[in-house]
Amino acid sequence: MRRIAIAVVASTMSLSLAGCGMLGASEGSSDATPTRTDDITIGVLMPEATNTRYAEFDYPIIKAKVASLTNNKGKTEYANAENSVAQQNSQMQKMIDQKVDCILLDAVDSHKIASMVKKAKEAGIPVIAYDRLAEGPIDAYVSFDNELVGEVQGRSITEALGTADTADEIVMINGSPTDPNAAQFKQGAMNELSGRVTIAATYDTDGWKPEIAQAHMTQAIQKIGKSNIAAVYSANDAMAGGIIKAFEAAGVSDSDLPPITGQDAELAAVQRIVSGEQYMTVYKPYAGEAEAAAEAAVAKVQGRELQFEALTRDKIDSPTNKDIPAKLVTVVALTRSNIKKTVVADGIYKVSDICTAAYKQACNTIGLK
Ligand code: GAL
Repeated sequence: MRRIAIAVVASTMSLSLAGCGMLGASEGSSDATPTRTDDITIGVLMPEATNTRYAEFDYPIIKAKVASLTNNKGKTEYANAENSVAQQNSQMQKMIDQKVDCILLDAVDSHKIASMVKKAKEAGIPVIAYDRLAEGPIDAYVSFDNELVGEVQGRSITEALGTADTADEIVMINGSPTDPNAAQFKQGAMNELSGRVTIAATYDTDGWKPEIAQAHMTQAIQKIGKSNIAAVYSANDAMAGGIIKAFEAAGVSDSDLPPITGQDAELAAVQRIVSGEQYMTVYKPYAGEAEAAAEAAVAKVQGRELQFEALTRDKIDSPTNKDIPAKLVTVVALTRSNIKKTVVADGIYKVSDICTAAYKQACNTIGLK
């Protein structure tokens, strides 16, 4: 009995000591010698601008969170590589030269960026991989659960088909081959689709480009025949837009489109879901990912290791490093039936953003008001 009591006291003590340590970092600002604790700069490198999520959600959320965690003293430095490896390399070099305190890196090419990650580390700058698992000596990885994204997409296809069977021919249009997430999305989808349907054609899409996805779809329609395609796995929304254009060009009317998946809950995709052109998207609650990344970056810079560890409790391996501390955030399917409970409830879009004049009637039909 006594032993237990001592153990409890001991653990309470270590907890409160830990608490002191955490507070210590920000209390430093009241010291005679001012510390740089809140006066920090976090570099934010995003991969591309074709998809709207990075500029519309990820970056603004990170920026606001860094400010709120640092009494409005912390800054962010933003750069978007527009899908170019060379551009991202030089943007990262610039941040290293400027001696930012930490870099949040969403890589264009997770393999080719590894030497820059190493350079940053050598310059004493921690690197947290954001959304895509960069290779090299990163300090942590903050992302959504990418395999789950693919599973949610794959499951939506089998649900849409009702009684899916191997006679159902599916076209699979995957994301960029240099983005490790694309492989995980594909793996997740295959977990659901393998053995249940026939994958009649499969493509990877350089740079996630919608026009390339459209060209793939045109090819698939020629190969399989427009009325033989039971569903299309599209890895994200921007590509789904291109895929629908290919069907339209082949003379398929909107009401005859097969179920088409997506990802990112872009406004145009949510509108296509309302009108029935696109079957679903994966809603990734951006605040969950972006705020966790900001918190991890600030904790790292301020030396609050315990908090950093608590924020990154999952473990993940990259092709170059093992047991990387990670945080993987969960995702949900967005279909016609849960628009209000997802993007509207989270304040991503207002009903009036979605239900513009062209979509008013369709919104009424599904009771979105
Ligand atoms: C992925 C990301 C997706 C999507 C895609 C295209 O890495 O997880 O949300 O944005 O890139 O850029």
